Amino acid sequence: MKIVLEILRHPAGTGPGRFEIEARPDERLLDVLVRIARRVDPTLGFRKSCGHGVCGSDAMVINGRERLACKTLVKEVAPEGGPAVTVEPLRTLEVRRDLIVEQEPFFRRYRGVKPYLIAPGPAVGPRERLQSPEERAAIDDATNCILCAACFSACPVVREVNPRFLGPAAIVQASRFLEDSRDRGFEDRLGPLDRPDGVWPCENRYKCTRVCPRGIQVTKLINLTKRRITEFKRNKPPSA
Ligand code: SF4
Ligand code: FES
Repeated sequence: MKIVLEILRHPAGTGPGRFEIEARPDERLLDVLVRIARRVDPTLGFRKSCGHGVCGSDAMVINGRERLACKTLVKEVAPEGGPAVTVEPLRTLEVRRDLIVEQEPFFRRYRGVKPYLIAPGPAVGPRERLQSPEERAAIDDATNCILCAACFSACPVVREVNPRFLGPAAIVQASRFLEDSRDRGFEDRLGPLDRPDGVWPCENRYKCTRVCPRGIQVTKLINLTKRRITEFKRNKPPSA
């Protein structure tokens, strides 16, 4: 079948943004983009790596919704004889070229929450820090995050209310360690989380949860993190 891809290109003047191309209904939109770049327009810029929904590098806005191009089948977004498929870069990050966005503001937020195990003191046993299956299950959802930034792009608070908001992905990453039974870094992470631009601007609009390609309960983890901070402050002994 023939489909039409309308790609929002930036900066203007980098070539056509509309491509008519043959595609199979069961192939991935990423394959179509690769074919365009190989055979039609080698200047078309986009990120990809694993091709299997693991690396998170090919998140983009397809037909108005954040998706991974490698997890999107042509037939899901381009029904035969239907309108053109629109493909745009992620929304809340500056566009560098075509579908490539500047990722630094996203990863700066990620680094800010100290996304690593803070566990002073010796491990139990010679090498390992042990966890029960129940303790591991508590962090299961958050460990699925692939840092694709789809949630950050879809977040209406970042887009319309507070562009400095820490954003959903960084809070998911913080939660992954706050809920880890082996971690002792709660107070180390309070700075970036418990501030006006930290967790508090979230308005529970659920866009992040709806677009997350890993099915993570993003809004639930944000609310859990808010609750942990509130409980911590309530139970904290008054300073002398
Ligand atoms: S929470 Fe989901 S949408 Fe957000 S960065 Fe992680 S995998 Fe992507
Ligand atoms: S290319 Fe790695 S997630 Fe799509």
